[in-house]
Amino acid sequence: MSFDWLAPHYRWMEAVLAGRKMQRCRVAWLDEVRACRNVLVVGEGPGRFLEVAVAQMPDASFVCVDASSAMLERARAAVLGNPRVSFLHASLPEWEPPAAAFDLIVTHFFLDCFPEPVLSQVVARLAAAATPDARWLLADFQIPERGLARLRARGLLALAYRFFRIATALPATELVSPDEALQRHGFRLKSRISANWGLLHSDLWARDAVV
Ligand SMILES: C[S@@+](CC[C@H](N)C(=O)[O-])C[C@H]1O[C@@H](n2cnc3c(N)ncnc32)[C@H](O)[C@@H]1O
Repeated sequence: MSFDWLAPHYRWMEAVLAGRKMQRCRVAWLDEVRACRNVLVVGEGPGRFLEVAVAQMPDASFVCVDASSAMLERARAAVLGNPRVSFLHASLPEWEPPAAAFDLIVTHFFLDCFPEPVLSQVVARLAAAATPDARWLLADFQIPERGLARLRARGLLALAYRFFRIATALPATELVSPDEALQRHGFRLKSRISANWGLLHSDLWARDAVV
């Protein structure tokens, strides 16, 4: 699987297809995590979350991991080579991050790339890298419970998965919720907002040690 081919087109495609809706979800909970100091951002793509987070969290250090070197180059350009950000070309779940090293994990529109059981393996890897009081930001797609919104989401996601499968050889064919996997590793959902007829959600999760 590789997102290299898509990297030069990712931003304009998002702008055309979603406007600012995805970006609003990425940064929705930034105010809640300003106190975090060691941030692991995985599957960051061209750096849209990173550029805002680096500006708004001046005391934090960031490790940005992505399996696509073309995406990493764009993320690096987005933060103008800021020395508080290090970049790592690596693939989950094979990459083993340092244990209990990060008080914030960020996985925006990333966990939707994995089918089970790989999704659980990826969440386990990242949870092992989180401190006991860590938070986890997660924006992604979802399928509403019922009604027209559900039909719409199912149709759009079927098209999206077909596209990404052709463009990137994505291993996933449908959306799998990471909620149970996060709960298994001690994370609890603190806040969730939905957008775009319930197609998008933006979550703030925190480990039990956070009150
Ligand atoms: C759908 S894009 C999401 C990009 C961005 N986070 C966003 O909010 O739009 C998925 C990103 O995850 C990366 N990726 C996919 N599978 C990966 C893996 N197994 N390990 C690390 N990165 C991966 C891709 O290269 C790509 O940059």
